[in-house]
Amino acid sequence: MTSAEIRNSFLDFFKEKQHTTVPSASILPQSPGLLFTNAGMNQFVPYFLGTEKAPYDPPRAADTQKCIRAGGKHNDLEDVGYDTYHHTFFEMLGNWSFGNYFKEEAIAWAWELVVERWGLPANRLYATVYAPSEGDPSEFDHEAYQLWKGFFEKAGLDPKIHIVNGNVEDNFWKMGDTGPCGPCSELHVDMTPNGDTGGKLVNMDSDLCIEIWNLVFIQYNAEEDGTYRDLPSKHVDTGMGFERVCSLIQNTKNFTDFSKKPTNYATDVFQPIFRMLEKLSGKKYVDVYPGEESDALEQAIAFRVIADHIRTLSFSIADSIIPGNTGRNYVLRRILRRAVKYGRTLGFNGNEPFLPRLVDTLVEEFSHVFPEIKTRAAVIKETLTLEEESFNKTLDRGMEKFENSVIENVFPPEDAFQLYDTFGFPLDLTALLCRERGITLDEKAVEARMEEARKLSRASQKKMVVRATEISTDVITEFLGFEKNSCEAIVLEIHGNLVITDKTVFFTEMGGQEGDTGTLNDSTITSTQQIGSAIAHQIEGNIPAVGDTVDLTINRERRSYRSSPHRHPPPPLGYTQSHLTRRFPTGVQRFARSLDL
Ligand code: ALA
Repeated sequence: MTSAEIRNSFLDFFKEKQHTTVPSASILPQSPGLLFTNAGMNQFVPYFLGTEKAPYDPPRAADTQKCIRAGGKHNDLEDVGYDTYHHTFFEMLGNWSFGNYFKEEAIAWAWELVVERWGLPANRLYATVYAPSEGDPSEFDHEAYQLWKGFFEKAGLDPKIHIVNGNVEDNFWKMGDTGPCGPCSELHVDMTPNGDTGGKLVNMDSDLCIEIWNLVFIQYNAEEDGTYRDLPSKHVDTGMGFERVCSLIQNTKNFTDFSKKPTNYATDVFQPIFRMLEKLSGKKYVDVYPGEESDALEQAIAFRVIADHIRTLSFSIADSIIPGNTGRNYVLRRILRRAVKYGRTLGFNGNEPFLPRLVDTLVEEFSHVFPEIKTRAAVIKETLTLEEESFNKTLDRGMEKFENSVIENVFPPEDAFQLYDTFGFPLDLTALLCRERGITLDEKAVEARMEEARKLSRASQKKMVVRATEISTDVITEFLGFEKNSCEAIVLEIHGNLVITDKTVFFTEMGGQEGDTGTLNDSTITSTQQIGSAIAHQIEGNIPAVGDTVDLTINRERRSYRSSPHRHPPPPLGYTQSHLTRRFPTGVQRFARSLDL
């Protein structure tokens, strides 16, 4: 089966079982505690809590959900590229019961789909059930055990071997620190050539025995005080790793040949991205398995990281999460910068962005499932272009700094801080570079240094904030914002954290209309104000020096959002092409000044 057929087969199966197929929710979560949507159940939280009624008859649903696990409770970022089955972005196939069916149907249908419909040999299947220790929530899941036992026995297999107990870490599922939760039962598949490991690899982080499906029996709400409150009804929440199932089915040629080591990257989910990367880089992807000695390993990791990260970046931007300096936006920026760094391994030297050139492949492959990837393609490409261009400006100098900083296999925390502060290297990128080369880095010391800098900057910003009305200037700033979104400019005056340049692309605050925001080099421009004929940019971050040449870039996403006729009435910007010259006719001003008016 192709990946598209596998996805449809799952959804059709549950349609037969009277589930309504629903679209994926946005990657931008509704739950305040989450960085990204991290599971299929996120969009259904109100139905689990009983604060809203599920609008399906019967109350059952199925879908494929876009998920990101990077940062936060569920974080797979460090494994990406180094193994064959963890991703920052993945699809989660799921079926849900909202106070309707419970364990019996959930387990029976899981068996029916995987063993009977898809044909997975039952002797390769292992089910885990929840077995808590003293002090853990809930109790041993007898019901799930008995149900699985029935199926394994019917297949002539020993339940004592094929059912494995799992602890609170592995078999009690929580969305975050708080929220709906419950014991779960996972299906693991033995993908070794002979399939005879007898369950020894289950939950051992082996890529030859991976979890493909998690059935969660939601019964509780994890409260902020650490207790578990019974929910009014019992629900089912399942999550199947789509890319893993594609790997299982495609790498084994529909379960007929287990001789090849499985890898998600060998599936048609990732291969089109690799083909495009090969075309752009002129390098060939050689499928080097993690741990194997090979000159091609470094290159294989780069292919895998980029193929993973471009999906995360594109789907996030499609859902209006853009790279930035804080929270989830910074997670995205970190991911982008990692991708750009790995691009160097494939020979992308920074002259021209390569990430936006991968977007059309995603549009081709995924727009039939997630149409937003197509409708937002232009914004995705623009955002990637700007971000990649910006990091390219400091990446090579940062790498040089990195190489020069190492002292006898130790990386000084102060240098890691400088890489972050001056060269835009996220700490995890420096940590990764250190890990790759076997260099020790005291990350806690760097974090502490970063916190110290943040404190200093907050304190100095308080002192430095200067209101535009408090200053006057003779500078005339040339406005280029109708033609361009970014420009190079020279710093002419600095007043606290207000920076005045000879040129700009930033609209200013005016008549209740907010000014543009964006960046000045690596610092943030939080607002822009008119002072006489000058335009002053309010800076958060590093303040440049007078005479510096700086890059000014507006936050295009924000400007196009503000001015999009579909979201807002036509923009009351008050600007026309000649507006600035009309409003501030330089000659008139000079004349007025000469009269000392
Ligand atoms: N919510 C469960 C998970 O993400 C199904 O594993």
